[in-house]
Amino acid sequence: MTPTQQHPPGETVGFLPAMKIILSGEKFDQLTYARHMSDTYGGFAFTRFANIDFYTISDPELMHEILVERADEFNKGIITRVFKPVVGNGLLTSEGDFWKRQRKLAQPAFHYRRIESYGTIMAEHTLKLLESWHDGQMRLIDREMMKLTLSIVCKTLFDADVSGDAERVGNLMIGVLDAANERTNAALRLPDWMPTRKRIAQQKLIAELDAIIQRFISERRKTGEDRGDLLSMLLLAQDDDGQSMNDKQLRDEVMTLFIAGHETTANVLTWAFYFLAEHPEVRAKLVAEVDHALNGRTPTLADLKNMPYTEMVIKEAMRLYPPAPGVSRSPNQNLQLRGYTISKDAIMNLSMYAMQRSPRYFENPDAFIPERFTPENEKNIPRYAYLPFGAGPRVCIGNSFAMMEARLILAAIVARFDLTLVPGQHVVAEQLMTVRPKESIRVHLRKREQPITANNPPVMMSMM
Ligand code: HEM
Repeated sequence: MTPTQQHPPGETVGFLPAMKIILSGEKFDQLTYARHMSDTYGGFAFTRFANIDFYTISDPELMHEILVERADEFNKGIITRVFKPVVGNGLLTSEGDFWKRQRKLAQPAFHYRRIESYGTIMAEHTLKLLESWHDGQMRLIDREMMKLTLSIVCKTLFDADVSGDAERVGNLMIGVLDAANERTNAALRLPDWMPTRKRIAQQKLIAELDAIIQRFISERRKTGEDRGDLLSMLLLAQDDDGQSMNDKQLRDEVMTLFIAGHETTANVLTWAFYFLAEHPEVRAKLVAEVDHALNGRTPTLADLKNMPYTEMVIKEAMRLYPPAPGVSRSPNQNLQLRGYTISKDAIMNLSMYAMQRSPRYFENPDAFIPERFTPENEKNIPRYAYLPFGAGPRVCIGNSFAMMEARLILAAIVARFDLTLVPGQHVVAEQLMTVRPKESIRVHLRKREQPITANNPPVMMSMM
Protein backbone atom coordinates (compact mmCIF):
# COMPACT_ATOMS: atom_id res chain seq x y z
CA MET A 1 0.00 0.00 0.00
CA THR A 2 1.16 3.54 -0.65
CA PRO A 3 0.40 6.10 2.08
CA THR A 4 -2.02 7.99 -0.19
CA GLN A 5 -4.36 5.04 -0.62
CA GLN A 6 -7.41 5.20 1.63
CA HIS A 7 -8.69 1.76 0.89
CA PRO A 8 -7.60 -1.49 -0.79
CA PRO A 9 -7.85 -1.78 -4.57
CA GLY A 10 -11.35 -1.95 -5.93
CA GLU A 11 -14.11 0.00 -7.62
CA THR A 12 -16.71 2.66 -7.02
CA VAL A 13 -20.36 2.59 -8.00
CA GLY A 14 -21.62 6.17 -7.81
CA PHE A 15 -24.87 7.20 -6.19
CA LEU A 16 -26.98 7.36 -9.38
CA PRO A 17 -25.79 4.05 -10.89
CA ALA A 18 -26.26 2.48 -7.44
CA MET A 19 -29.85 3.75 -7.29
CA LYS A 20 -30.45 2.40 -10.78
CA ILE A 21 -29.29 -1.05 -9.67
CA ILE A 22 -31.40 -0.87 -6.52
CA LEU A 23 -34.53 0.30 -8.31
CA SER A 24 -34.17 -2.20 -11.18
CA GLY A 25 -35.23 -4.90 -8.70
CA GLU A 26 -32.90 -7.35 -10.42
CA LYS A 27 -31.31 -10.05 -8.31
CA PHE A 28 -27.74 -9.23 -7.53
CA ASP A 29 -25.42 -12.08 -8.56
CA GLN A 30 -23.32 -12.20 -5.42
CA LEU A 31 -21.30 -15.25 -6.45
CA THR A 32 -20.08 -13.78 -9.72
CA TYR A 33 -19.40 -10.44 -8.09
CA ALA A 34 -17.34 -11.89 -5.22
CA ARG A 35 -15.28 -13.87 -7.68
CA HIS A 36 -14.79 -10.91 -9.97
CA MET A 37 -13.53 -8.81 -7.06
CA SER A 38 -11.21 -11.54 -5.85
CA ASP A 39 -9.81 -12.37 -9.29
CA THR A 40 -9.42 -8.72 -10.31
CA TYR A 41 -8.25 -7.03 -7.12
CA GLY A 42 -6.98 -9.86 -4.91
CA GLY A 43 -7.85 -11.15 -1.47
CA PHE A 44 -8.71 -7.75 0.04
CA ALA A 45 -10.96 -5.88 -2.39
CA PHE A 46 -13.01 -2.75 -1.90
CA THR A 47 -16.26 -1.48 -3.39
CA ARG A 48 -17.86 1.85 -2.61
CA PHE A 49 -21.53 1.38 -3.49
CA ALA A 50 -23.25 4.78 -3.23
CA ASN A 51 -22.07 5.68 0.29
CA ILE A 52 -21.60 2.14 1.62
CA ASP A 53 -18.15 0.55 1.96
CA PHE A 54 -18.02 -3.14 1.02
CA TYR A 55 -15.02 -5.39 1.34
CA THR A 56 -14.68 -8.73 -0.39
CA ILE A 57 -12.21 -10.85 1.56
CA SER A 58 -10.79 -13.99 -0.03
CA ASP A 59 -7.32 -14.14 1.48
CA PRO A 60 -6.62 -17.00 3.95
CA GLU A 61 -4.48 -14.86 6.25
CA LEU A 62 -7.13 -12.17 6.45
CA MET A 63 -9.76 -14.85 7.11
CA HIS A 64 -7.63 -16.00 10.01
CA GLU A 65 -7.11 -12.48 11.30
CA ILE A 66 -10.82 -11.57 11.19
CA LEU A 67 -12.45 -14.87 12.17
CA VAL A 68 -9.93 -16.15 14.69
CA GLU A 69 -7.24 -13.77 15.92
CA ARG A 70 -9.32 -10.60 16.16
CA ALA A 71 -12.76 -12.25 16.28
CA ASP A 72 -13.77 -10.10 19.30
CA GLU A 73 -13.34 -6.90 17.28
CA PHE A 74 -16.03 -7.83 14.75
CA ASN A 75 -19.76 -8.52 14.80
CA LYS A 76 -21.83 -10.46 12.32
CA GLY A 77 -23.00 -7.30 10.58
CA ILE A 78 -25.69 -7.51 7.96
CA ILE A 79 -26.48 -11.18 8.63
CA THR A 80 -28.06 -10.17 11.92
CA ARG A 81 -30.41 -7.77 10.15
CA VAL A 82 -31.39 -10.44 7.64
CA PHE A 83 -31.99 -13.31 10.04
CA LYS A 84 -33.07 -11.81 13.35
CA PRO A 85 -36.69 -11.27 12.30
CA VAL A 86 -36.84 -14.98 11.46
CA VAL A 87 -34.62 -16.76 13.98
CA GLY A 88 -34.62 -14.21 16.81
CA ASN A 89 -31.58 -14.06 19.03
CA GLY A 90 -30.21 -17.57 18.46
CA LEU A 91 -26.64 -18.79 18.04
CA LEU A 92 -26.39 -17.57 14.47
CA THR A 93 -27.38 -13.98 15.22
CA SER A 94 -26.51 -13.25 18.86
CA GLU A 95 -23.35 -11.50 19.99
CA GLY A 96 -21.10 -10.97 23.01
CA ASP A 97 -21.68 -12.55 26.40
CA PHE A 98 -25.17 -13.69 25.54
CA TRP A 99 -23.86 -15.66 22.53
CA LYS A 100 -21.00 -17.08 24.63
CA ARG A 101 -23.42 -18.42 27.20
CA GLN A 102 -25.75 -19.90 24.58
CA ARG A 103 -22.87 -21.53 22.75
CA LYS A 104 -21.63 -23.09 25.97
CA LEU A 105 -25.10 -24.41 26.73
CA ALA A 106 -25.66 -25.81 23.24
CA GLN A 107 -22.17 -27.23 22.63
CA PRO A 108 -22.68 -30.54 24.50
CA ALA A 109 -25.70 -31.30 22.28
CA PHE A 110 -23.27 -31.44 19.35
CA HIS A 111 -20.63 -33.53 21.04
CA TYR A 112 -19.60 -36.44 18.83
CA ARG A 113 -20.85 -38.99 21.40
CA ARG A 114 -24.25 -37.37 21.43
CA ILE A 115 -24.71 -37.04 17.70
CA GLU A 116 -23.47 -40.60 17.14
CA SER A 117 -26.96 -41.84 17.90
CA TYR A 118 -28.33 -39.73 15.07
CA GLY A 119 -26.41 -41.83 12.52
CA THR A 120 -29.08 -44.52 12.63
CA ILE A 121 -31.83 -41.94 12.15
CA MET A 122 -30.00 -40.49 9.14
CA ALA A 123 -29.58 -43.88 7.47
CA GLU A 124 -33.16 -44.96 8.24
CA HIS A 125 -34.65 -41.80 6.80
CA THR A 126 -32.55 -42.18 3.66
CA LEU A 127 -33.77 -45.75 3.20
CA LYS A 128 -37.34 -44.56 3.63
CA LEU A 129 -36.82 -42.02 0.87
CA LEU A 130 -35.24 -44.66 -1.37
CA GLU A 131 -38.27 -46.89 -0.94
CA SER A 132 -40.24 -44.23 -2.78
CA TRP A 133 -37.68 -44.11 -5.65
CA HIS A 134 -38.14 -46.41 -8.63
CA ASP A 135 -36.03 -47.46 -11.56
CA GLY A 136 -36.47 -45.15 -14.57
CA GLN A 137 -38.10 -42.31 -12.63
CA MET A 138 -37.16 -38.67 -12.94
CA ARG A 139 -36.70 -36.70 -9.71
CA LEU A 140 -35.72 -33.16 -8.73
CA ILE A 141 -32.64 -33.97 -6.70
CA ASP A 142 -32.50 -30.67 -4.82
CA ARG A 143 -36.10 -31.09 -3.64
CA GLU A 144 -35.52 -34.70 -2.65
CA MET A 145 -32.48 -33.75 -0.60
CA MET A 146 -34.33 -30.89 1.11
CA LYS A 147 -37.17 -33.25 2.01
CA LEU A 148 -34.71 -35.77 3.40
CA THR A 149 -32.58 -33.41 5.48
CA LEU A 150 -35.72 -31.73 6.79
CA SER A 151 -37.15 -35.05 7.96
CA ILE A 152 -33.80 -35.79 9.65
CA VAL A 153 -33.67 -32.43 11.39
CA CYS A 154 -37.29 -32.84 12.61
CA LYS A 155 -36.48 -36.21 14.07
CA THR A 156 -33.14 -35.25 15.63
CA LEU A 157 -34.47 -31.94 16.99
CA PHE A 158 -37.92 -32.95 18.20
CA ASP A 159 -38.06 -36.68 17.90
CA ALA A 160 -40.98 -35.89 15.60
CA ASP A 161 -41.89 -38.01 12.67
CA VAL A 162 -44.97 -39.93 13.58
CA SER A 163 -46.93 -36.96 14.87
CA GLY A 164 -49.21 -35.24 12.38
CA ASP A 165 -47.17 -32.08 12.90
CA ALA A 166 -44.14 -33.27 10.97
CA GLU A 167 -45.59 -32.53 7.56
CA ARG A 168 -47.01 -29.19 8.63
CA VAL A 169 -43.70 -28.27 10.25
CA GLY A 170 -42.00 -29.24 6.98
CA ASN A 171 -44.23 -27.00 4.90
CA LEU A 172 -43.95 -24.11 7.32
CA MET A 173 -40.21 -24.55 7.39
CA ILE A 174 -40.05 -24.24 3.63
CA GLY A 175 -42.05 -20.99 3.87
CA VAL A 176 -39.81 -19.68 6.63
CA LEU A 177 -36.69 -20.58 4.66
CA ASP A 178 -38.13 -18.73 1.69
CA ALA A 179 -38.61 -15.76 4.00
CA ALA A 180 -34.97 -15.90 5.08
CA ASN A 181 -33.82 -16.32 1.49
CA GLU A 182 -35.95 -13.44 0.33
CA ARG A 183 -34.56 -11.24 3.05
CA THR A 184 -31.02 -12.17 1.98
CA ASN A 185 -31.68 -11.02 -1.52
CA ALA A 186 -33.60 -7.90 -0.53
CA ALA A 187 -31.22 -6.87 2.23
CA LEU A 188 -29.62 -4.10 0.26
CA ARG A 189 -32.87 -2.92 -1.17
CA LEU A 190 -35.78 -2.79 1.25
CA PRO A 191 -35.78 -1.31 4.72
CA ASP A 192 -36.95 -3.73 7.43
CA TRP A 193 -40.04 -1.73 8.30
CA MET A 194 -41.45 -1.94 4.77
CA PRO A 195 -44.44 -4.29 5.00
CA THR A 196 -44.51 -6.00 1.58
CA ARG A 197 -47.28 -8.54 0.94
CA LYS A 198 -44.70 -11.29 0.91
CA ARG A 199 -43.32 -10.21 4.28
CA ILE A 200 -46.78 -10.12 5.85
CA ALA A 201 -47.50 -13.64 4.58
CA GLN A 202 -44.11 -14.79 5.88
CA GLN A 203 -44.81 -13.33 9.32
CA LYS A 204 -47.93 -15.49 9.48
CA LEU A 205 -45.91 -18.61 8.65
CA ILE A 206 -43.33 -17.75 11.29
CA ALA A 207 -46.11 -17.22 13.85
CA GLU A 208 -47.63 -20.61 13.06
CA LEU A 209 -44.27 -22.36 13.29
CA ASP A 210 -43.61 -20.53 16.55
CA ALA A 211 -46.84 -21.86 18.01
CA ILE A 212 -45.89 -25.44 17.11
CA ILE A 213 -42.37 -25.07 18.51
CA GLN A 214 -43.82 -23.54 21.69
CA ARG A 215 -46.11 -26.54 22.05
CA PHE A 216 -43.18 -28.95 21.69
CA ILE A 217 -41.30 -27.01 24.36
CA SER A 218 -44.24 -26.86 26.80
CA GLU A 219 -45.04 -30.55 26.41
CA ARG A 220 -41.45 -31.51 26.96
CA ARG A 221 -41.13 -29.23 29.99
CA LYS A 222 -44.17 -30.92 31.54
CA THR A 223 -42.83 -34.45 31.16
CA GLY A 224 -39.18 -33.50 31.76
CA GLU A 225 -38.35 -36.52 29.63
CA ASP A 226 -34.96 -36.88 27.88
CA ARG A 227 -35.89 -38.27 24.50
CA GLY A 228 -32.34 -38.14 23.20
CA ASP A 229 -33.11 -35.35 20.75
CA LEU A 230 -31.53 -31.89 20.56
CA LEU A 231 -34.52 -30.25 22.22
CA SER A 232 -34.06 -32.44 25.31
CA MET A 233 -30.38 -31.52 25.39
CA LEU A 234 -31.11 -27.81 25.15
CA LEU A 235 -33.85 -28.05 27.78
CA LEU A 236 -31.63 -29.86 30.23
CA ALA A 237 -28.53 -27.70 29.64
CA GLN A 238 -27.49 -25.48 32.56
CA ASP A 239 -24.86 -22.78 32.76
CA ASP A 240 -22.28 -22.43 35.58
CA ASP A 241 -24.89 -20.70 37.78
CA GLY A 242 -27.36 -23.54 37.29
CA GLN A 243 -29.51 -21.44 34.94
CA SER A 244 -31.17 -23.06 31.94
CA MET A 245 -32.72 -21.47 28.83
CA ASN A 246 -36.11 -19.83 29.05
CA ASP A 247 -38.82 -20.54 26.45
CA LYS A 248 -37.88 -17.57 24.27
CA GLN A 249 -34.23 -18.61 24.12
CA LEU A 250 -35.19 -22.19 23.38
CA ARG A 251 -37.50 -21.07 20.60
CA ASP A 252 -34.78 -18.97 19.02
CA GLU A 253 -32.20 -21.76 19.20
CA VAL A 254 -34.60 -24.33 17.79
CA MET A 255 -35.56 -22.04 14.91
CA THR A 256 -31.85 -21.33 14.30
CA LEU A 257 -31.00 -25.02 14.14
CA PHE A 258 -33.88 -25.63 11.78
CA ILE A 259 -32.69 -22.86 9.48
CA ALA A 260 -28.96 -23.57 9.72
CA GLY A 261 -29.15 -27.33 9.86
CA HIS A 262 -31.08 -28.43 6.87
CA GLU A 263 -30.76 -26.46 3.65
CA THR A 264 -26.96 -26.39 3.98
CA THR A 265 -26.54 -30.16 4.01
CA ALA A 266 -29.22 -30.64 1.34
CA ASN A 267 -27.23 -28.36 -0.95
CA VAL A 268 -23.93 -30.17 -0.42
CA LEU A 269 -25.63 -33.39 -1.46
CA THR A 270 -27.38 -31.80 -4.42
CA TRP A 271 -24.09 -30.50 -5.78
CA ALA A 272 -22.32 -33.76 -5.03
CA PHE A 273 -24.87 -35.66 -7.13
CA TYR A 274 -24.60 -33.09 -9.86
CA PHE A 275 -20.80 -33.40 -10.02
CA LEU A 276 -20.94 -37.19 -9.84
CA ALA A 277 -23.33 -37.27 -12.78
CA GLU A 278 -20.92 -35.06 -14.71
CA HIS A 279 -17.88 -37.18 -13.76
CA PRO A 280 -18.52 -40.89 -14.33
CA GLU A 281 -14.92 -41.74 -13.45
CA VAL A 282 -15.35 -40.24 -9.98
CA ARG A 283 -18.71 -41.93 -9.57
CA ALA A 284 -17.20 -45.32 -10.51
CA LYS A 285 -14.47 -44.89 -7.90
CA LEU A 286 -17.00 -43.87 -5.26
CA VAL A 287 -19.33 -46.76 -6.05
CA ALA A 288 -16.43 -49.22 -5.85
CA GLU A 289 -15.50 -47.88 -2.40
CA VAL A 290 -19.07 -47.96 -1.12
CA ASP A 291 -19.75 -51.47 -2.43
CA HIS A 292 -16.54 -52.73 -0.90
CA ALA A 293 -17.19 -51.08 2.47
CA LEU A 294 -20.87 -51.92 2.77
CA ASN A 295 -21.27 -55.28 1.12
CA GLY A 296 -24.79 -54.27 0.20
CA ARG A 297 -25.66 -53.16 3.77
CA THR A 298 -27.08 -49.83 4.86
CA PRO A 299 -24.18 -47.64 6.05
CA THR A 300 -23.61 -47.11 9.74
CA LEU A 301 -21.34 -44.74 11.55
CA ALA A 302 -18.73 -47.47 11.88
CA ASP A 303 -18.51 -47.73 8.08
CA LEU A 304 -17.49 -44.12 7.61
CA LYS A 305 -13.84 -44.73 8.44
CA ASN A 306 -13.72 -47.23 5.56
CA MET A 307 -15.06 -44.71 3.07
CA PRO A 308 -12.40 -41.98 2.76
CA TYR A 309 -13.26 -41.27 -0.88
CA THR A 310 -16.88 -40.56 0.07
CA GLU A 311 -15.60 -37.86 2.40
CA MET A 312 -13.32 -36.48 -0.32
CA VAL A 313 -16.25 -36.19 -2.72
CA ILE A 314 -18.26 -34.25 -0.13
CA LYS A 315 -15.31 -31.97 0.66
CA GLU A 316 -14.69 -31.21 -3.00
CA ALA A 317 -18.39 -30.46 -3.60
CA MET A 318 -18.22 -28.02 -0.67
CA ARG A 319 -15.10 -26.43 -2.09
CA LEU A 320 -16.79 -25.60 -5.36
CA TYR A 321 -20.17 -24.73 -3.86
CA PRO A 322 -19.69 -23.93 -0.18
CA PRO A 323 -23.26 -24.09 1.19
CA ALA A 324 -22.53 -20.94 3.19
CA PRO A 325 -20.75 -19.12 0.35
CA GLY A 326 -19.61 -16.30 2.57
CA VAL A 327 -19.95 -15.00 6.09
CA SER A 328 -20.48 -11.36 6.92
CA ARG A 329 -18.70 -9.25 9.49
CA SER A 330 -18.57 -5.57 10.47
CA PRO A 331 -16.10 -3.95 12.87
CA ASN A 332 -17.46 -3.09 16.34
CA GLN A 333 -15.53 0.21 16.07
CA ASN A 334 -13.56 1.84 13.27
CA LEU A 335 -10.38 -0.21 13.09
CA GLN A 336 -7.14 -0.77 11.21
CA LEU A 337 -6.71 -3.77 8.96
CA ARG A 338 -3.51 -4.11 6.93
CA GLY A 339 -2.95 -0.39 7.33
CA TYR A 340 -6.40 0.69 6.11
CA THR A 341 -9.09 2.23 8.28
CA ILE A 342 -12.25 0.17 8.12
CA SER A 343 -15.36 2.01 9.22
CA LYS A 344 -17.70 0.37 11.70
CA ASP A 345 -20.47 0.79 9.12
CA ALA A 346 -18.58 -1.20 6.49
CA ILE A 347 -19.94 -4.53 5.29
CA MET A 348 -17.36 -7.27 4.89
CA ASN A 349 -18.11 -10.35 2.87
CA LEU A 350 -15.67 -13.10 3.76
CA SER A 351 -16.17 -15.08 0.59
CA MET A 352 -15.43 -18.80 0.94
CA TYR A 353 -16.72 -19.20 -2.59
CA ALA A 354 -14.23 -16.77 -4.14
CA MET A 355 -11.35 -18.04 -2.01
CA GLN A 356 -12.02 -21.71 -2.63
CA ARG A 357 -12.15 -21.09 -6.37
CA SER A 358 -9.11 -18.87 -6.51
CA PRO A 359 -6.15 -20.01 -8.63
CA ARG A 360 -4.00 -18.42 -5.93
CA TYR A 361 -4.78 -21.39 -3.65
CA PHE A 362 -6.13 -24.18 -5.86
CA GLU A 363 -4.75 -25.46 -9.13
CA ASN A 364 -7.33 -25.77 -11.88
CA PRO A 365 -9.82 -24.27 -9.41
CA ASP A 366 -13.07 -24.91 -11.28
CA ALA A 367 -12.41 -28.60 -11.84
CA PHE A 368 -14.07 -31.23 -9.65
CA ILE A 369 -11.15 -33.29 -8.33
CA PRO A 370 -11.87 -35.08 -5.01
CA GLU A 371 -8.23 -36.27 -4.92
CA ARG A 372 -7.29 -32.79 -3.71
CA PHE A 373 -8.40 -34.10 -0.33
CA THR A 374 -6.23 -37.21 -0.04
CA PRO A 375 -4.30 -36.92 3.26
CA GLU A 376 -1.08 -36.10 1.32
CA ASN A 377 -2.66 -33.48 -0.94
CA GLU A 378 -4.79 -31.90 1.76
CA LYS A 379 -1.61 -30.93 3.60
CA ASN A 380 -0.67 -28.71 0.66
CA ILE A 381 -3.84 -26.60 0.83
CA PRO A 382 -2.81 -23.32 2.48
CA ARG A 383 -4.15 -22.97 6.01
CA TYR A 384 -7.50 -21.16 6.12
CA ALA A 385 -7.92 -21.38 2.32
CA TYR A 386 -10.65 -24.01 2.69
CA LEU A 387 -13.30 -22.96 5.21
CA PRO A 388 -16.75 -24.34 4.37
CA PHE A 389 -17.68 -24.35 8.07
CA GLY A 390 -16.03 -21.03 8.92
CA ALA A 391 -13.37 -20.72 11.62
CA GLY A 392 -12.69 -19.34 15.07
CA PRO A 393 -15.21 -19.03 17.89
CA ARG A 394 -18.17 -18.77 15.52
CA VAL A 395 -17.25 -21.90 13.56
CA CYS A 396 -20.26 -24.03 12.61
CA ILE A 397 -21.51 -25.89 15.66
CA GLY A 398 -23.12 -28.52 13.44
CA ASN A 399 -20.09 -29.45 11.32
CA SER A 400 -19.66 -33.01 12.63
CA PHE A 401 -23.40 -33.53 12.40
CA ALA A 402 -23.40 -32.29 8.79
CA MET A 403 -20.34 -34.29 7.70
CA MET A 404 -21.78 -37.45 9.19
CA GLU A 405 -25.15 -36.85 7.59
CA ALA A 406 -23.77 -36.01 4.15
CA ARG A 407 -21.50 -39.07 4.02
CA LEU A 408 -24.17 -41.50 5.25
CA ILE A 409 -26.76 -40.21 2.79
CA LEU A 410 -24.36 -40.15 -0.16
CA ALA A 411 -23.17 -43.71 0.52
CA ALA A 412 -26.69 -45.08 1.07
CA ILE A 413 -27.90 -43.58 -2.20
CA VAL A 414 -24.98 -44.52 -4.47
CA ALA A 415 -25.16 -48.07 -3.11
CA ARG A 416 -28.63 -48.40 -4.60
CA PHE A 417 -29.08 -45.92 -7.42
CA ASP A 418 -27.16 -44.36 -10.28
CA LEU A 419 -28.24 -40.80 -10.90
CA THR A 420 -27.75 -39.25 -14.32
CA LEU A 421 -28.68 -35.76 -15.44
CA VAL A 422 -31.72 -35.37 -17.66
CA PRO A 423 -30.11 -33.98 -20.86
CA GLY A 424 -30.55 -30.39 -21.98
CA GLN A 425 -30.38 -28.72 -18.55
CA HIS A 426 -28.37 -25.60 -18.02
CA VAL A 427 -27.46 -25.75 -14.34
CA VAL A 428 -26.69 -22.38 -12.76
CA ALA A 429 -25.95 -21.70 -9.10
CA GLU A 430 -27.37 -18.76 -7.20
CA GLN A 431 -26.64 -17.42 -3.78
CA LEU A 432 -29.55 -16.89 -1.47
CA MET A 433 -29.06 -17.99 2.09
CA THR A 434 -27.04 -20.88 0.69
CA VAL A 435 -25.70 -21.71 -2.78
CA ARG A 436 -28.40 -23.63 -4.55
CA PRO A 437 -29.27 -24.37 -8.17
CA LYS A 438 -31.36 -21.61 -9.71
CA GLU A 439 -33.67 -24.16 -11.31
CA SER A 440 -34.25 -27.62 -9.86
CA ILE A 441 -31.84 -30.27 -11.16
CA ARG A 442 -33.63 -33.16 -12.88
CA VAL A 443 -32.06 -36.59 -12.57
CA HIS A 444 -32.93 -40.02 -13.92
CA LEU A 445 -32.86 -42.85 -11.41
CA ARG A 446 -31.42 -46.18 -12.37
CA LYS A 447 -31.65 -48.88 -9.77
CA ARG A 448 -28.33 -50.65 -9.40
CA GLU A 449 -27.87 -54.37 -9.35
CA GLN A 450 -26.94 -55.26 -5.78
CA PRO A 451 -23.18 -55.68 -5.50
CA ILE A 452 -21.88 -59.23 -5.59
CA THR A 453 -20.79 -60.03 -2.05
CA ALA A 454 -20.52 -62.95 0.29
CA ASN A 455 -24.01 -62.13 1.61
CA ASN A 456 -25.39 -61.57 -1.84
CA PRO A 457 -23.91 -64.18 -4.22
CA PRO A 458 -24.73 -64.16 -7.93
CA VAL A 459 -27.89 -66.09 -8.82
CA MET A 460 -26.03 -68.88 -10.70
CA MET A 461 -23.90 -69.69 -7.69
CA SER A 462 -26.75 -69.62 -5.24
CA MET A 463 -28.71 -72.05 -7.43
CA MET A 464 -25.96 -74.63 -7.34
C1 HEM B 1 -22.69 -28.74 5.17
C2 HEM B 1 -23.44 -28.17 6.07
C3 HEM B 1 -23.12 -26.90 6.79
C4 HEM B 1 -22.31 -25.86 6.43
C5 HEM B 1 -21.45 -25.75 5.19
C6 HEM B 1 -22.38 -24.88 7.49
C7 HEM B 1 -21.65 -23.69 7.50
C8 HEM B 1 -21.63 -22.81 8.55
C9 HEM B 1 -20.78 -21.64 8.63
C10 HEM B 1 -19.80 -21.18 7.56
C11 HEM B 1 -21.01 -21.05 9.83
C12 HEM B 1 -20.27 -19.83 10.38
C13 HEM B 1 -21.04 -18.55 10.21
C14 HEM B 1 -20.23 -17.32 10.62
O1 HEM B 1 -19.08 -17.39 11.01
O2 HEM B 1 -20.81 -16.23 10.51
C15 HEM B 1 -22.04 -21.82 10.50
C16 HEM B 1 -22.56 -21.51 11.73
C17 HEM B 1 -23.54 -22.24 12.34
N1 HEM B 1 -24.07 -23.45 11.92
FE1 HEM B 1 -23.57 -24.45 10.24
N2 HEM B 1 -23.23 -25.34 8.46
C18 HEM B 1 -23.70 -26.57 8.07
C19 HEM B 1 -24.55 -27.39 8.78
C20 HEM B 1 -25.07 -27.09 10.01
C21 HEM B 1 -25.90 -27.99 10.78
C22 HEM B 1 -26.30 -29.40 10.36
C23 HEM B 1 -26.26 -27.31 11.90
C24 HEM B 1 -27.12 -27.75 13.05
C25 HEM B 1 -27.77 -28.87 13.16
C26 HEM B 1 -25.63 -26.00 11.84
C27 HEM B 1 -25.76 -25.02 12.79
C28 HEM B 1 -25.02 -23.85 12.81
C29 HEM B 1 -25.12 -22.86 13.88
C30 HEM B 1 -26.06 -22.92 15.07
C31 HEM B 1 -24.19 -21.85 13.58
C32 HEM B 1 -23.88 -20.62 14.41
C33 HEM B 1 -22.77 -20.96 15.36
C34 HEM B 1 -22.32 -19.80 16.26
O3 HEM B 1 -22.20 -18.67 15.80
O4 HEM B 1 -22.08 -20.08 17.42
N3 HEM B 1 -24.90 -25.92 10.68
N4 HEM B 1 -22.38 -22.90 9.71
